[in-house]
Amino acid sequence: MALVADTLTYTYGASTAFAAPALKGVSLTLEPGGLLLVVGATGSGKSTLLRVLSGLLAPDSGSVLVDGEAPGEPGRVGIVFQNPETQFFAETVLEDVLFGPKNLRFPDAGQAARDALASVALADAEFAGRSPFTLSGGEARRVAVAGVLAMRPA
Ligand SMILES: Nc1ncnc2c1ncn2[C@@H]1O[C@H](COP(=O)(O)OP(=O)(O)O)[C@@H](O)[C@H]1O
Ligand SMILES: [Mg+2]
Repeated sequence: MALVADTLTYTYGASTAFAAPALKGVSLTLEPGGLLLVVGATGSGKSTLLRVLSGLLAPDSGSVLVDGEAPGEPGRVGIVFQNPETQFFAETVLEDVLFGPKNLRFPDAGQAARDALASVALADAEFAGRSPFTLSGGEARRVAVAGVLAMRPA
């Protein structure tokens, strides 16, 4: 199955004098295992598209379906924001990655966190116990990705 976006529109401040259309009729399909790069000038709507695709923002018109269902439920769409170091809060890398699966009450939360760290090549026990605030920029980005993968989004 796939993520299917159909004719999305989104306008910030729609009912105000400052109305700024950010998405106008965007349609796309993401297949499992596929990779799609969205490239565009600053302000062209990339971040808005990501927010709508993940269900953080509801489109003004059009639809997003993941395997035929709304994207906003846990387990459907994971989203990794820029500047991951601003999102860390736990004392160790493992605790930080554990937050999502624990919050979702996964019975195998520990395994989900370890699998996620392994999938970003940070399975090494040395990393699990490190403070996330001591990581390099690239390591921090990978831990942030692991934190999302640990929730097993489709
Ligand atoms: N919270 C907001 N309120 C009003 N306008 C916004 C908001 N966020 C983004 N915009 C505007 O929407 C347009 C698209 O922004 P954005 O999706 O962040 O672009 P990109 O990620 O491609 O740089 C820009 O004109 C931007 O100024
Ligand atoms: Mg952006």
